[in-house]
Amino acid sequence: MRLIPALLTALAAISLCAAASAAPKPEECLKCHGGTLESLAAQTKNYKAPSGETVNPHVYIDKLAANPHKSKVLPDCLKCHTDHGIPPDKSKIKPANVDYCYGCHHMENFQKCSSSGCHEGR
Ligand code: HEC
Ligand code: HEC
Ligand code: HEC
Repeated sequence: MRLIPALLTALAAISLCAAASAAPKPEECLKCHGGTLESLAAQTKNYKAPSGETVNPHVYIDKLAANPHKSKVLPDCLKCHTDHGIPPDKSKIKPANVDYCYGCHHMENFQKCSSSGCHEGR
């Protein structure tokens, strides 16, 4: 019976798509967008934040770590992007921003905290 494996593959593909349309995990987005965060980041290395700083919006973010950018925890793409259907309707994809980063970088820049004096109790 060759039908069963084929059917199972098809079902797996369908459930993958269903998962993708519910709340896609970063891994699923990356399958089509560069494969790794590094190669996605290579595409946005010249991004300019509103502060005028060149900062890459695609960095690892581990909210539970003392240094959130050290461990390789993928950021949640949907904090900054909205999901798009397949095939994507490019007219509906809005440009993303780095507001999500400001949840921690609350001076709205990407200076070291020690140099901006942000936690000195003022
Ligand atoms: C099945 C492949 C696939 C998946 C999965 C996928 N995308 Fe896309 N995405 C595309 C294609 C194709 C385009 C249109 C690219 C083009 O026409 O230049 C696109 C466009 C985009 C764009 C607009 C920028 C650009 O390159 O045009 C963003 C942002 C984006 N996708 C983010 C995401 C995010 C976030 C996810 C996960 C929630 C995701 N995508 C999942 C295939 C995919
Ligand atoms: C902190 C916010 C943020 C997060 C998280 C984020 N992005 Fe982005 N992304 C941006 C910004 C800002 C840009 C540049 C402006 C734009 O193209 O919308 C961008 C651009 C893109 C582009 C277009 C790249 C190009 O060549 O123009 C793709 C594709 C994309 N992001 C996919 C992803 C995927 C996949 C994830 C999750 C692994 C992700 N993003 C996570 C902010 C984010
Ligand atoms: C969960 C909190 C958190 C989030 C979210 C976060 N960061 Fe960070 N980030 C930190 C911490 C903590 C440091 C180390 C701070 C320090 O040394 O002052 C840091 C350091 C940095 C640095 C290095 C500064 C330096 O000169 O050493 C850059 C660049 C940076 N973050 C960019 C980003 C970007 C871009 C985003 C959004 C995509 C982001 N961060 C989201 C907490 C966060």
